[in-house]
Amino acid sequence: MNVLDRLDTTLRVVGGARLEGSVEVQGAKNAALPIMAAALLARGKVTLHRVPRITDVSVMWSLLEALGARLSLQDRNTITIDAANVNKARAPYTLVRKLAASFDLCGPLLGRFGRAEVPLPGGCVLGTRATDLHEAAFRALDAEVSVAHGYLIANARGGRLRGGEIEFRMPSVGATKNAMLAAVTADGDTIIHNAAMEPEVVDLANFLVAMGAKIEGQGGDTLRVTGVAELRGVEYEIIPDRIATGTLLIAGAITRGDVTVKKTRPDDVLALQLALGECGVKVTTGDDWVRVQADTVKGGTDVVTAPHPGFATDLQPQLLSFLCTAPGVSVVEESIFNARFSYVNELVRMGADVRVAMDNNTALVKGVAQLSGAPVEAPDIRAGAALVLAGLGASGETEIIGLEYIDRGYERLEETLSSLGAQVQRASGIVPFSEPTGTFETSVYPSV
Ligand code: EPU
Repeated sequence: MNVLDRLDTTLRVVGGARLEGSVEVQGAKNAALPIMAAALLARGKVTLHRVPRITDVSVMWSLLEALGARLSLQDRNTITIDAANVNKARAPYTLVRKLAASFDLCGPLLGRFGRAEVPLPGGCVLGTRATDLHEAAFRALDAEVSVAHGYLIANARGGRLRGGEIEFRMPSVGATKNAMLAAVTADGDTIIHNAAMEPEVVDLANFLVAMGAKIEGQGGDTLRVTGVAELRGVEYEIIPDRIATGTLLIAGAITRGDVTVKKTRPDDVLALQLALGECGVKVTTGDDWVRVQADTVKGGTDVVTAPHPGFATDLQPQLLSFLCTAPGVSVVEESIFNARFSYVNELVRMGADVRVAMDNNTALVKGVAQLSGAPVEAPDIRAGAALVLAGLGASGETEIIGLEYIDRGYERLEETLSSLGAQVQRASGIVPFSEPTGTFETSVYPSV
């Protein structure tokens, strides 16, 4: 990517506007991606509603096509996947390198072909992306697992996986998804202990059950899977995106506004509701909406990121941006990833008072009266969103380079924020999606 390309992917925010109004939230990225991968296991066609139009979905789309699946766009957020002709068990590195979630393909490929070859995710800007728990899960299901030439290679002994007992040392989201995906068509029963309880893991389980899988215990820390011979095609709606929900609520809070996020699930953002409440933001909820009114922010708060239902690591940067503008001192501790504060330097360039401890896991935030707009660079999806929020709460103009990261996870964030009264503009050039043409545009992916 050359310098001019970078200029094309800039978002300009003019701060100071108080956000007001209500918006519907997009479908969940981290549910849509594994569910698309899971469609590889279906005998019939899968139709998915509320699929977010984001570049990560485009990459998964291309990956499934590369394996031999046929995908089509039914309307703006509805896609169909027909995996009948999938004939490859090896995912191409050129696409996988753009999407850590490509590793979700291991389980379905292993279940379908008794073999999976998927490039290792390697490192990313958030920290290490280890795969030991995925490997242990496949071994527990009687697969031989090795690493060669940058690929994880798993082979079911005798060509078919067998149920087993899996005990995770920590509740990894990705490894729980892969264990379930591999176990649903294995011979016999599987028990997964210390499973991740994130809503997206539950959504994947519910989707698999809709396809005919037998899974019990969704939403708890122990999952019981009874293997079935085959899974059928289904029509399914993806859950609302809790991270996009939280991002929009924090946009309301940082602009001292009044924002309602609709068609969401309030319980999925409970920890954020509590954190904002502690700062003096008024939070009210209904069956499918959450409203923040932030006229009187009294102070900061302390949060530690943790597996669900704890405070989501994917909302850590956005909350920290808000805390930079809340009176008093706040402490933010990151316990999921080992390098998730790299964006803090950009906030400091906007006048924030934040110190990250030497261990890189704790940030001390002292609220300042006002941030000042500056050119900044987004290092990843959520930190990119956090910089947009900081720009909304700052005086003057903030230019965020690296909009392509934000486009990986947020469906037209600038349009959503503008509808609430923000002054946010895509600076020029690249439009990630034109109207439905039967395929998702794939030319603007960042390489991560
Ligand atoms: N880990 C291991 N061994 C493993 C797997 C994970 O040590 O075998 C470690 C990782 O190195 C990491 C931690 O466990 O430090 C958490 O990893 P986890 O497997 O739970 O996360 P993930 O599946 O890689 C998903 C989301 C992330 C989100 C995390 C935590 C998707 C596609 N990604 O990642 O979302 O931060 O769970 O909730 O579902 C994002 O959307 O921006 C994003 C980064």
